Formats: sequence, structure tokens, C-alpha cells
Amino acid sequence: MQVKKKTQYKLSFLLEDKTYYAPFKTLSLLLDKDINWILKHQEGFLTLEEYKRFVILQQALKDQEDYTFLVDYKYFYDQKIFLEQGVFVPQTDTEILIDKLLEEKKNSKTKSEIEVLEIGFGTGAISIALAKNTQWTFDAIDINLKAKQLAQKNAEYNKVSERINFLLKDLFSLALTKRYDVIISNPPYINFEDKNVTKWVKENQPFEALYSKNDGLNHIIKILEISEKNLKPKGILLFEFGFDQKEVITKMIDVTKWEISFGKDLNNLWRYVLLRKK
Ligand SMILES: C[S@@+](CC[C@H](N)C(=O)[O-])C[C@H]1O[C@@H](n2cnc3c(N)ncnc32)[C@H](O)[C@@H]1O
Repeated sequence: MQVKKKTQYKLSFLLEDKTYYAPFKTLSLLLDKDINWILKHQEGFLTLEEYKRFVILQQALKDQEDYTFLVDYKYFYDQKIFLEQGVFVPQTDTEILIDKLLEEKKNSKTKSEIEVLEIGFGTGAISIALAKNTQWTFDAIDINLKAKQLAQKNAEYNKVSERINFLLKDLFSLALTKRYDVIISNPPYINFEDKNVTKWVKENQPFEALYSKNDGLNHIIKILEISEKNLKPKGILLFEFGFDQKEVITKMIDVTKWEISFGKDLNNLWRYVLLRKK
């Protein structure tokens, strides 16, 4: 592609050129637009200055395998979510949980009386994405003070703060006074012994967001226990787990109490389970 001598660079050429690394993501960051916008505006152009910045971002991507923190936000389920060091960066695979729950509740998703509890909210991405697509109300807990401040900022930016109650609470000492229609979580689920955690994850994601005792299952065991008590009849528990945990989680679920439906992630690996209380 002969782009170097030009002063304008067509988006469609940049997107098609296979020498570029993850051009959609880079253009999304550069132009502060989500990927759907980029797809719709491929006939548009970058200026020379924008193109130079594009190349710098591309290089950073190659060097760091991730551009997160070069800019202070990312898009999660089409919502702009601000990031900060010390708060878990939401992962695109987790968007599947949002799709699954909205599909499951499609006949009732605009009803405001649906009450959701999110366990471990991080940036607030899950509750915010759900709130933007429904009229539901949310209690969301986390132990990370920085996360609470950031999630509040994200909810205000996305204009859903009046329906999400972010609380600084520990799952393991949670005293709930009400029952919920939905409990959702992307909990810490990595075993302390796991050797497959990438360097970037170790260096950038907070420790307490990743690891759980009992072979990575401690948080999940507690979430199941809370859900048995605090979900309404026919209530839904939806949570993410590690790609190799499906078998052990199957054994933990009492089929006399729950209907079970497992789901896969974008890499075709088992990644979440949806349980409906019988
Ligand atoms: C994997 S991150 C998920 C964050 C966010 N929901 C997402 O999907 O991007 C797990 C979150 O659980 C929180 N967490 C860890 N232990 C917790 C506990 N005992 N009680 C409540 N939250 C906890 C962490 O601080 C972290 O924000």
C-alpha cells in the first residue's frame, strides 16, 4: 500500500492491509469510536497527523501485545469504559455473558422491577452494559476502593448511575437483606499454581481480581452458596469461569436445585454457566 507519500489515508485501506496489527482496535482508540462506527465509515480518511499517531499506536501494540493504558478507556459492549491501573481491565470475552442474559430475559428485559446483584464489579462494565440495555436496577459489590470510584465515574459517564448502587463489600462477609432476580459475576478464578497466566496479565491486572484459593474455586463456591439463599424462585445465576473448570463446576452444582446451561467463549472454550433456580 502506497500510503507514506499521501496526506490522507483511507480507513478501508488501513483496515485491509495485512501488515497492520489489529487495525480495527487501533482506529477505534485513535478516533474514539466503537468498531461498528469504524465499519460504517470506511470511506472516511485519516489526516497525516492521525496517520502518524496510528503508526505509533500500532507499534505500541506489537511491542506490548496490548495497548491498554496507552489510552485510558476501552469499549465494552459498545459502552465507553474508563480504565485505571489497579482496576481489572474488562475482557471482550465477558461480553458473552451480557448477550446470554439479555437473550434469556428478552421478554422481560425492559421491566424495571428486575433486581440484579453483581459480585466483583471492577470498572462496572457488566452492570453498566446491562443497565444501558434495560431498565433493571443493580446492587454491585467489590472490595477494591479504586474500582468503586472508577465504576461510579463510568456509570455517570454512561448515564446509568441512578440505577446502579456500587458498594464496597466483601463477598465472604456479605449480609444480604433481600433477594434478587439475577446474580451475575466474573469472579477471580485462577489457581495460584497456574503457569499459563501471561506476563501482561500478571503485570497489569490486580492480583485480587485474578486469583482464588481452593484451586481457583473459592469465590465460585461462595457465589453458589449466596445464590441458593438470595435468588428468588426461577432466579438466574450467571458466572464466568476458567476454560478448564467446567467439569469440577458441574460436580459442585446440585441438579435437584438448578437447571444448568454452559456456554463457550469466542475461542470455543467453555467459559460460563447460567443456572436457573428450580
Ligand atoms: C475478574 S475481575 C472482574 C471485574 C469486572 N466484573 C469485569 O468483568 O471486568 C474480579 C473482581 O472481583 C473483585 N473481588 C475479588 N475478591 C472479592 C471479594 N472477596 N468480594 C468482592 N469482590 C471481590 C476484584 O476486586 C475484581 O474487581
